Amino acid sequence: MTETPAILLTRCYPEAVIERAERDYGATVNRDDTIWKGDDLIAAAEGFDGMLISSSNTLTADVISRLPERMKIVASYSVGYEHVDLEAAKARGLLITNTPDVLTDATADTALLLLLAAARRARESMAMVVEGRWVGWTPTQLLGVETGGRRLGILGMGRIGLAMAHRARALGMEIHYHNRSRLAPDLEQGARYHDSVEGLFAVSDFLSIHCEMTPQTEKLLNAETIEFLPDNAIVINTARGGIIDDDALIGALRSGRVFAAGLDVFDGEPKLDPRYRELDNAFVLPHIGSATVDTRNAMGFRALDNLDAFFRGDDPPDRLT
Ligand code: 8YV
Repeated sequence: MTETPAILLTRCYPEAVIERAERDYGATVNRDDTIWKGDDLIAAAEGFDGMLISSSNTLTADVISRLPERMKIVASYSVGYEHVDLEAAKARGLLITNTPDVLTDATADTALLLLLAAARRARESMAMVVEGRWVGWTPTQLLGVETGGRRLGILGMGRIGLAMAHRARALGMEIHYHNRSRLAPDLEQGARYHDSVEGLFAVSDFLSIHCEMTPQTEKLLNAETIEFLPDNAIVINTARGGIIDDDALIGALRSGRVFAAGLDVFDGEPKLDPRYRELDNAFVLPHIGSATVDTRNAMGFRALDNLDAFFRGDDPPDRLT
């Protein structure tokens, strides 16, 4: 392509990302950061050859079929891609890319933060201080759960699951995992493989969810499977909210069957189930898994690398379709 391709940034990404997109493409940026979906997204896409979307810009089969013909590539500013109908994109000849690797450490850090916060009752502890209710420590005040020697079950031992395992080893935790297939010994590093979800749950004093959101993993933690967890287990989720059945987890948090949960993602976010707000043992964060300056810049640069490759005539490195 000799003419500079027309690029749309559907969100207000970090300034360094915008600067590069403006410098290289004279990109158009949605500075208001309005979340375009459906007809709005289709209208906004008019006149562009490629766009850099976020996971909030859902690309259903219907939206994809109505995108302007000129639109040839969509780079998603995310590792997850459940917001894009890949089959429909493939059928339409629309190239989709994501941003793996660059957010692995930031997301694993967030999972560790949730693990420790849930185990050590950080929400209740912080509220006591912030609300001026703390009148001094007592030998039995806010007693939490130790991590050393406990079993951490990792559901989905991909890049982020492995990074979480690495962190948890430093705490002295015993690592277990379930995956579609068993990893090679050099990746496992002693972690114990379970070929079923139930088998993993049964040994998970802590359960950290790192699998993709697919029809197979939707509500994988539900009223039935939650019963496999040991008493007083702790549940951590930095993957996707839809993997958890909220009724089941909230019931178990209320009864004390599950000691605590650390959640960064929610079904239907940002409208999380309001019952989580009432639960002292639910440590909740507003989807900040990848929210560091370095990582959010790197995600944008990675998405731009994919656009650059495509418009150079090369195969984008993170091609999904
Ligand atoms: C992002 C994420 O914050 O990459 C993902 O899949 O969930 C997060 O890192 C968000 O989805 C940005 O689009």
